[in-house]
Amino acid sequence: MEQHRNRLEALRQEALLGGGEKRKEAQHAKGKLTARERINLLLDPDSFEELGMLVKHRSTNFGLDKQQFLGDGVVTGYGKIDGRLVYVFSQDFTVLGGSLAEAHAKKICRVMDLAMQNGAPVIGLNDSGGARIQEGVVSLGGYADIFYRNVRASGVVPQLSAVLGPCAGGAVYSPALTDFIFMAEGTSYMFVTGPNVVKTVTHEEVSSEDLGGAKAHSTKSGVTHFTGRNEAEVIQHIKKVLSFLPQNCEEEPLKLAYEPSDESRAKLDAVVPENPQQPYDMRSVIQEICDDGTFTEVQKDYAENMVIGFARLAGNSIGVVANQPAFLAGVLDIKASTKAARFVRTCDAFNVPLLVLEDVPGFLPGTDQEWNGIITNGAKLLYAFSEATVPRVTVITRKAYGGAYDVMNSQHIGADLVYAWPTAEIAVMGAKGAAEIIFKREIANADDPEAMWKEKEAQYAEMFAHPYNAAARGYVDEVILPRNTRAKLIKAFEMLRNKVDTLPRKKHGNLPL
Ligand code: HXC
Repeated sequence: MEQHRNRLEALRQEALLGGGEKRKEAQHAKGKLTARERINLLLDPDSFEELGMLVKHRSTNFGLDKQQFLGDGVVTGYGKIDGRLVYVFSQDFTVLGGSLAEAHAKKICRVMDLAMQNGAPVIGLNDSGGARIQEGVVSLGGYADIFYRNVRASGVVPQLSAVLGPCAGGAVYSPALTDFIFMAEGTSYMFVTGPNVVKTVTHEEVSSEDLGGAKAHSTKSGVTHFTGRNEAEVIQHIKKVLSFLPQNCEEEPLKLAYEPSDESRAKLDAVVPENPQQPYDMRSVIQEICDDGTFTEVQKDYAENMVIGFARLAGNSIGVVANQPAFLAGVLDIKASTKAARFVRTCDAFNVPLLVLEDVPGFLPGTDQEWNGIITNGAKLLYAFSEATVPRVTVITRKAYGGAYDVMNSQHIGADLVYAWPTAEIAVMGAKGAAEIIFKREIANADDPEAMWKEKEAQYAEMFAHPYNAAARGYVDEVILPRNTRAKLIKAFEMLRNKVDTLPRKKHGNLPL
């Protein structure tokens, strides 16, 4: 037995070496951790069970047979985060640049298959030069095998992708098919074609960082949902997001212990300014309503006119979707609509109830929006809310104008409850614009058109800039004082806890993509 044990131990030690000390040092010098160091940070101590540690590639192309590394550049297995089962793969850049080919891809597919069979999240830690050039088409096949599984697992188990190094070419599409992407500032980048190809094709000069770094994808493209100042912070974000999600679509998210106390929040009474044109920060409303310090914003630097994120309310996980009057007056545009639509669908897929906070002046007008498809993109949000079967509650804090009133989780598209603050203005449009249209002739013919406009505006505001017409129709279930919002919502979500809602039988809907 001694001899067998020694042989096994020697192989294990060889696998643990990865691409060797020199390459590990190079990895550290770039400010990056190794594949195993990342797994150690991610998982509960001593919980990692590695699978396929001794896997080798079978290629002999271009001298690859002389470059054999046990594990073939990816560490795979399962373990626990906060005591809950997860599957993980972590690409090892020290081995052939973490490049992906047949054996490497097979290892990833294996943990994805196990995750699906056993109903637990998959976390991918990506750090790779892409398709292993020497292995040719089997590398492309390997990627496609992963993409296929990403799609089949979508909405069944949570899939989280950290990009912790290069991620180029078609390799970006596996992360893109998962639920959340996380990037580290300064060391991660994602693009379909790198700076050299960009220069050849479009003559643009751009660095990797500017083209596809964490900042570009968190502010310009919205591709990444979270960025961290370093890898440790990225890993903390992953754990946080997982804590709000269930293990799979058949389960509920974890409820944390909660001691009821005084739920009144007097500060909320002073949030909405007297002047309806004046902005305020919707984040302060979210923070007052939700359990202290639990709000975890998603895509916080992208489409800032829409705030989305996870939080807890009386210990329960909820998804928050809120217009942000402090940015572009909270207007609905293409980016805000798609950002919110995606989040609504993610929450709905994983049984996370939705809280909508509404203060929206309408859809953004203009050729840019129309020609880029605000119709199709705005419809995505309408579709996502209408289709969602999780409990969903809306609070209208101020403006709910026009089509945006309908779209932002109105009762008409299936909200379970709609509350309005007394400051709510629920109308076809703002009083100023409305007066200009309805009283065009009177204003034009008046001795003092400006004074007439003001008078008509006041008349319209008196008639419509409040929540009581909507309340009279029952479109608003209750007009509540802001200070009581948290208490009302705790009761509302508790009441909706056993909600059952099913969609009509179909193969699948036809979301306006
Ligand atoms: C095989 C690779 C590799 C690859 C890197 N290496 N990329 N080996 N296939 N795709 C190896 C290098 O030879 C080197 O080996 C080691 O990994 C580290 O690479 P360096 O270049 O020294 O590191 P660095 O300077 O940090 O640059 C990293 C890099 C660069 C930016 C990723 O290596 C690079 O540009 N690689 C090629 C990227 C690429 O074009 N991939 C194909 C994309 S197309 P040694 O032995 O020296 O340590 C694609 C299609 C997927 O992925 C399609 C799916 C649908």
